[in-house]
Amino acid sequence: MLIVGNWKAYIESLSKAKRLYAASKRLGQSGKISIVLAPPAPYLGSLASGNRSKVEFAVQDVSATLGGATTGEVTAEAAADAGATYAIIGHSERRAMGDTDAIVLSKVQHALAHGLTPILCIGESVRDEDAAYLTQLRHQVSTVFAALSPKERTQMIIAYEPIWAIGKNASDAITPADLNEMVLYIQKMLGEYLPGKASSKVLILYGGSVEPGNIRALAAGTSIDGFLVGRASSDVTTFGALVKALS
Ligand code: PGA
Repeated sequence: MLIVGNWKAYIESLSKAKRLYAASKRLGQSGKISIVLAPPAPYLGSLASGNRSKVEFAVQDVSATLGGATTGEVTAEAAADAGATYAIIGHSERRAMGDTDAIVLSKVQHALAHGLTPILCIGESVRDEDAAYLTQLRHQVSTVFAALSPKERTQMIIAYEPIWAIGKNASDAITPADLNEMVLYIQKMLGEYLPGKASSKVLILYGGSVEPGNIRALAAGTSIDGFLVGRASSDVTTFGALVKALS
């Protein structure tokens, strides 16, 4: 199981970031759970450089540019150089700020070009009775996968994060039964781009109000490969409880 802690902008001090990293190193020792931490960009280098633990690091986003005169941008190359091995791309909070599927694709391509494993976030804003949300998900996946080589496709991770479930409480998260249906649907979609067993190389994560109280049921009742956790990953005690609930 893979747990990605997306600290978003919840962490605004290096000392707190270091405490979370130290706790994650202890939690990751058992070897059952792989932990990836996604700190705000200014902390990435100080935590990740010289990291010899099992914990790995993700950058929360990468630039669609290749660097140069682009003030404020964090390129995939700089993130990889700072020690990241993963990149969260297409998070709904970035899509809400203007990332289109085409921009998401170019970010994925930059990440892959610099050896970062893209964690491609997909998710619908609402669930309608006509299931138009499935078309939205299909579009988010197909724009990226159709443009990648077969080898690149196997290097992807998908994070299914329904927007209606993000940043709420466990009671608002998806049910295990509904999540399992979505995992099967995503696996089927991936099978269109990666025939045979190749599609099983693409891990599928769930994100949206994952907490110590619901993580075990979501893992046990589905074929999910891991979780992308926001708020609950930004507190040492809660994150510890969350990882232990899965161990
Ligand atoms: P949440 O966020 O766990 O706070 O709902 C998940 C995410 O947005 O990645």
